Amino acid sequence: MISKKIEKALNRQIKLEGESSHYYLAMASWCEVNGFNGISKFLYKHSDEERMHMLKLFMYVNERGGHAITPELKSPQSNFKGVPEIFQHILEHEVMVSKEINELVEQCLSEKDYTTHNFLQWYVTEQMEEERLARNILDKLNLIGNDKSGMYMFDRDLESMKTEDGAE
Ligand code: FEO
Repeated sequence: MISKKIEKALNRQIKLEGESSHYYLAMASWCEVNGFNGISKFLYKHSDEERMHMLKLFMYVNERGGHAITPELKSPQSNFKGVPEIFQHILEHEVMVSKEINELVEQCLSEKDYTTHNFLQWYVTEQMEEERLARNILDKLNLIGNDKSGMYMFDRDLESMKTEDGAE
């Protein structure tokens, strides 16, 4: 059974994962209407994964005797300056999510909730992967710079790029 404090903290994380899903959805849509179809597909997939992150927490809370609350999600920005700006946003967003996960982990330790602590290890690994992926993509974009054919190929490559390394 989780404590009220942990239940509240997990519900906050549920909201954050839901908002992440919304955020990726907004970026996918911008890419789609601006002709970056490969990047858009990658971001739609990522949006789905964020929803899965939310759902995993949702089910955990209920399994452990808490009550998962369907969160109100704030509407993200819908316009972006360009693809590099999008991936910069993604990196900053994921760094922020990692920080929140780490705080949650710390809270579990201070509450002696080792079960939730164990459950959250999946998220710790996942965040490391997400940050790494965003950094790799930003490095590629830096190399491409203003090269139009490079950008064309990047868009094509991203369509088949995995959003995570099969971590389940
Ligand atoms: Fe579920 Fe990208 O954090």
